[in-house]
Amino acid sequence: MQKIILESEKDTIDFAKKIAEKIKIGDVLALYGELGSGKTFFSRHLCKFLGVEENVSSPSYVLMNEYHGKFPIAHLDFYRLGGVEEVLELGLHDIFETGVTIIEWPEIGEEILPEDSIRLHFYFDGNNRWIEF
Ligand SMILES: Nc1ncnc2c1ncn2[C@@H]1O[C@H](COP(=O)(O)OP(=O)(O)O)[C@@H](O)[C@H]1O
Ligand SMILES: [Mg+2]
Repeated sequence: MQKIILESEKDTIDFAKKIAEKIKIGDVLALYGELGSGKTFFSRHLCKFLGVEENVSSPSYVLMNEYHGKFPIAHLDFYRLGGVEEVLELGLHDIFETGVTIIEWPEIGEEILPEDSIRLHFYFDGNNRWIEF
């Protein structure tokens, strides 16, 4: 387990850049963490580093936003889903294979995540922010 302390937004942006340099088609990123811990902020900058020019907004109401950067990117949020059946209905299998998938609140779909998903845990305790992975 690695822990990265984020002292500023720039630290999160630098971390997003590092991840972006390693990402390839077929990667699934699972972003865990409470509301406000920085999952969408990280996703927005990751997408920018992957060449997305559009504004990246929170997918919490729409379930999924799709972008085209260096790769097709799907940005999802499972928070509002009622169960794994609803995750299955999204038919993510093709998306997982043909693009890069970023999932906020992945817990409810845990059993359908590829085993080699990149799991990042975001924390904010009111003072400090950090990521564990
Ligand atoms: N180091 C940091 N990393 C990420 N977000 C930060 C940081 N410092 C402050 N913030 C702010 O915290 C908020 C995180 O919100 P958001 O990314 O929407 O969280 P989540 O998607 O986990 O609910 C943003 O308003 C962002 O500007
Ligand atoms: Mg969010």
